Amino acid sequence: MTPSSLLHLLFGAGPLLLVIFGSAWGSNTTTPLVMWHGMGDSCCNPLSMGSIKKMVEEEVPGIYVLSLEIGETIIQDMENSFFMDVNAQVALACNQLSQDPKLKEGYNAMGFSQGGQFLRAVAQRCPSPPMKTLISVGGQHQGVYGLPRCPGESSIICNWIRKKLNSEAYADFVQKHLVQAQYWHDPLNEDLYRTHSLFLADINQERGVNETYKKNLQSLDKFVMVKFLQDHIVDPVDTEWFGFLKPGQAKEMETLQESTLYTEDRLGLAEMDKAGKLVFLASDGDHLQFTREWFNANLLPYLR
Ligand SMILES: *[C@@H]1O[C@H](CO)[C@@H](O)[C@H](O)[C@H]1NC(C)=O
Ligand SMILES: *[C@@H]1O[C@H](CO)[C@@H](O)[C@H](O)[C@H]1NC(C)=O
Repeated sequence: MTPSSLLHLLFGAGPLLLVIFGSAWGSNTTTPLVMWHGMGDSCCNPLSMGSIKKMVEEEVPGIYVLSLEIGETIIQDMENSFFMDVNAQVALACNQLSQDPKLKEGYNAMGFSQGGQFLRAVAQRCPSPPMKTLISVGGQHQGVYGLPRCPGESSIICNWIRKKLNSEAYADFVQKHLVQAQYWHDPLNEDLYRTHSLFLADINQERGVNETYKKNLQSLDKFVMVKFLQDHIVDPVDTEWFGFLKPGQAKEMETLQESTLYTEDRLGLAEMDKAGKLVFLASDGDHLQFTREWFNANLLPYLR
């Protein structure tokens, strides 16, 4: 083909090319993704959130990924994952999301470990901008009763936290200042939990039914929960699928579907389940351990 016939072809096909390039360049068809990291981690750790952000950006060209930073610096972000009032953290995140023009049309959300229940609180409390799909990766939706192991190198902090949780999780001071106490769920003391848990008992409608929470959560397209079958950090692991220990004892478990939260449909989850909006996924590894292949096969479809 001579240069001039190439030119002719290009210009002759002008309108068609414009249509093709126009749709590829002009409009962003991808839905932005907001991520919230877990305990002892930060927004931008190259070994965790950083690498997941990069991976998603490689798999979904053009996607806008925001990895939430709670605080002014990465160190603060990490410290806040242990010591900052969770309700204040959620308010901070909501504020950040509402001011990001790229999220105006809505976004998907992916929370890792405690970030999973924190982003659910965002969905329930902050309907604007709209969250479309919520993916909870090893989140603790009914809380935890035990802290068998901590991730990374934070074992001194971790031992101290464990002591506090076992002795005075529901003391007001501890509730205010210890993140893990705010989703500590003691099945032997359900009344204490119900009345004193500042965060989890509130978003799980333990003190009453807030219809706004219900309505907001139900406006999700999908709520995906990933459970890690060999999880050695989260106790009990069923909490990753919204199950927990039956009230009044610490041995037998109940599933979400068996809980009063579901049978009374206090949070709208039963209705969402019937509408096919709840997705329960399992990954055969320890806490937050998955391969890129697993991610691509199981979670990526929700991000496109
Ligand atoms: C489209 O996505 C790109 C890549 O993240 C982003 O920089 C740009 O601002 C987006 N455009 C719109 C209109 O949202
Ligand atoms: C219900 O939740 C909404 C959204 O967070 C809040 O504004 C409202 O005060 C709550 N209502 C009650 C009765 O707690």
